[in-house]
Amino acid sequence: MKRLTVPKVMQRKEDGTTQEPLVMLTAYTARQAQLLDPHCDMLLVGDSLGQVIYGLPSTLPVTLDMMCAHGAAVVRGSYHALVVVDMPFGSYEASPQQAFTSASRVLAQTGAAAIKIEGGHAMAETVRFLSQRGIPVMGHVGLTPQAVNALGGYMARGRNEAEHARIIADGNAIADAGAFAVVAEGVVEDIAITLTRSLSVPVIGIGASAHCDGQVLVTEDMLGMFERVPRFVKKYSDIAGMIDDTAARYASEVRARTFPGPEQVYRAKSD
Ligand code: KIV
Ligand code: NA
Repeated sequence: MKRLTVPKVMQRKEDGTTQEPLVMLTAYTARQAQLLDPHCDMLLVGDSLGQVIYGLPSTLPVTLDMMCAHGAAVVRGSYHALVVVDMPFGSYEASPQQAFTSASRVLAQTGAAAIKIEGGHAMAETVRFLSQRGIPVMGHVGLTPQAVNALGGYMARGRNEAEHARIIADGNAIADAGAFAVVAEGVVEDIAITLTRSLSVPVIGIGASAHCDGQVLVTEDMLGMFERVPRFVKKYSDIAGMIDDTAARYASEVRARTFPGPEQVYRAKSD
């Protein structure tokens, strides 16, 4: 099957509306990508892997090497979805040139077709610089986790008028600069409605209501790998419970010496 391309994703909103919402999930490993790929239009190698895979307290310590390694694994495991790789904190903010150096390395080392950067107005020049040089950029506005120290936490954004207007301006600034899609995270419903109506490119929501051109979630959140998840997550499964139960059965069989059983034992060839 042929992989979905950036122009194809943009075409989904050609007449200004998206008939069938774009489906996106995070993926960090090859096998996970392989399982999710048939169901998704896009796979995001999110820097959320800092917390989800590495147990880090935030996304800030995530490195370009980590994103390249996981990005390459996800590309190897997928065939159909467009793979987007997050640019980690510190790898793109200093200048458009720094962003180009980092982003070109990500595309070259992973085989992914696009990168994602957080930020609005302040990143518009960088989005333009990359887009004009062959690097498709997905934007990310609203709750931008790399700005946790400036924002003071992971609370929903746009609850007062000034912030509301700023997030809409941010989304427009990066779309005007050439972003091929924009993630809107943790924003009030009105912002999602306005952004989705006003931007000519797809708006992918996470904690941003159903009024978007697509949705993204952290796969482990949606699978029920974690006890505590944000309000906007729906747990479609209880994978944590299944792993706990499965490990408990294995442990009890090992302790009872009922595993390995006869079926799992190698024997000498007999005639
Ligand atoms: O890192 C991530 O997983 C993300 C999304 C959830 C949008 O940026
Ligand atoms: Na991210």
